[in-house]
Amino acid sequence: MIDFLLNGQPRHCEVTPETSVLELLRESLGAMGTKEGCASGDCGACTVAIGETGADGELRYHSANACITPAHQLNGHHLITVDGLANGDKLHPAQAAMVECHGSQCGFCTPGIVMSLFTLHEQQRRQEDKALAPLTPQRLEAALGGNLCRCTGYRPIRDAALTMNEHPEHRPLWMDATGPEPKPEPVISESSFAQPTTLTGLIECLERHPEARLVAGATDLWLESTQRLARFERLIDVTRVAELNVIEETTLEDGRRGWWIGAAVTYTRIEPLLETHYDAFAHLLHRLGSSQIRNRGTLGGNVANASPIGDTPPVLLALGSRLKLVGSEGERELPLEDFFLDYKRTALQQGEAIRALFLPHPIEGETLKVWKLSKRREDDISAVLGAFAWRLEDGVLRDVRLAFGGMAAIPKRAIRAESALEGKEPSPAAFQQARLALSQDFQPMSDVRGSAHYRQVTAANLLERLRLVIAQNATDSPREVMLHAYAH
Ligand SMILES: Cc1cc2nc3c(=O)[nH]c(=O)nc-3n(C[C@H](O)[C@H](O)[C@H](O)COP(=O)(O)OP(=O)(O)OC[C@H]3O[C@@H](n4cnc5c(N)ncnc54)[C@H](O)[C@@H]3O)c2cc1C
Ligand code: FES
Ligand code: FES
Repeated sequence: MIDFLLNGQPRHCEVTPETSVLELLRESLGAMGTKEGCASGDCGACTVAIGETGADGELRYHSANACITPAHQLNGHHLITVDGLANGDKLHPAQAAMVECHGSQCGFCTPGIVMSLFTLHEQQRRQEDKALAPLTPQRLEAALGGNLCRCTGYRPIRDAALTMNEHPEHRPLWMDATGPEPKPEPVISESSFAQPTTLTGLIECLERHPEARLVAGATDLWLESTQRLARFERLIDVTRVAELNVIEETTLEDGRRGWWIGAAVTYTRIEPLLETHYDAFAHLLHRLGSSQIRNRGTLGGNVANASPIGDTPPVLLALGSRLKLVGSEGERELPLEDFFLDYKRTALQQGEAIRALFLPHPIEGETLKVWKLSKRREDDISAVLGAFAWRLEDGVLRDVRLAFGGMAAIPKRAIRAESALEGKEPSPAAFQQARLALSQDFQPMSDVRGSAHYRQVTAANLLERLRLVIAQNATDSPREVMLHAYAH
């Protein structure tokens, strides 16, 4: 059983491990405003807002795709759907602006778009957010990037976003109510589901049920249920394990300084750290999924999922990341490159979980570039992703690390191409050798995202781009380079 607030009303519901928020809303609670389009997190029609009380006691709403959000994760939280936005007969500013700007035609996408506007409006209401993040075109695109509309066209929707703050602030008071106290470890059925809140609790669960599937943001895992109709015999939810939710500054035994990022920390929470220290990595996050996905997806899930086209593993490989794993046998650490063994096969043993990922501090003189090639700019997985780190010392390349996604069964460094550049001047001849070496490093496959030939050619082109960037000592913004890259 779970307890949560739905549009201000307390709810006490029975859910199975596979129940999604969308299913709970439409099939059990008769709340039909939230629509199902794709059932895979892509279209945004099912967008809802989830309010969680942070450590500072503040209630913050984030947008989420109800179709791939596990219902059990609502426990103790506040869920707002499009059915609850209006205050009596007075529309919420997000709704009023959509009406006035003619932002809806068939209306199928509209509930989701209104909910994305609602969470944007909530962020704007927060005084510090207003100061930190005025409504720039980029912020607007980020807020709406996970919502597709096939008939209205986006200009009226954009107009609604830009003008909603001019509408009277009709907002039901219950929106500021925090959710009910969550039960410490809700149990859906005696053995099928656990939601530990401490590392010790997690380890106990892993000991008791080493075969259980782990779930964090569910933005990968839940597609197994909605697309392949998988059933989860046992689930352990890691999202509330306190130790997996922290970012800690640390010094490793080898003297490297950096941060341990808890495996359950969401992309949205990591963003400020990356924006301060790794511009190129932060920019990649803006291109990873949508706001709805980034609000729930985690680095831990991205790495554990071990997809060859996951966005963050090549970046973490280029930065020399490490992993901390926990299980009944205790804790162990390993370099990230020893984690990926073969297609979707990792060094994670049964009964183990990722506790944290090490992100090193930027090193003096080191540069990181990340270029993602995908068919669409917003909300699309990459065909090829290159992440490159290097230093220039007396005109010579040092500590060159070139990592790629989409080029092999696993995210992988291009060791031969790296050797072709290490200790060399960044000359056309050295880069020519590196490009040739790429064909020994990788024999990519053809799939819907790109042919093997496309992948070989574009990966080599990314190295040529890298040469040009170094040659011009270019201060190109990652954004410009990304946009250019999409044009291929
Ligand atoms: C619409 C859409 C767009 C997307 N776009 C992108 C994109 O642009 N780039 C990209 O890289 N990915 C993308 N993804 C995939 C997904 O969002 C990411 O891989 C995300 O980081 C997964 O994190 P999660 O917390 O949701 O993991 P979950 O789905 O909860 O889990 C994923 C896997 O990791 C395991 N796992 C989770 N946490 C742990 C842990 N602590 N220890 C061990 N195992 C664990 C789970 O058992 C599962 O096998 C997209 C997904 C969707 C639905
Ligand atoms: S139904 Fe398309 S994102 Fe949920
Ligand atoms: S109004 Fe029809 S899909 Fe957007």
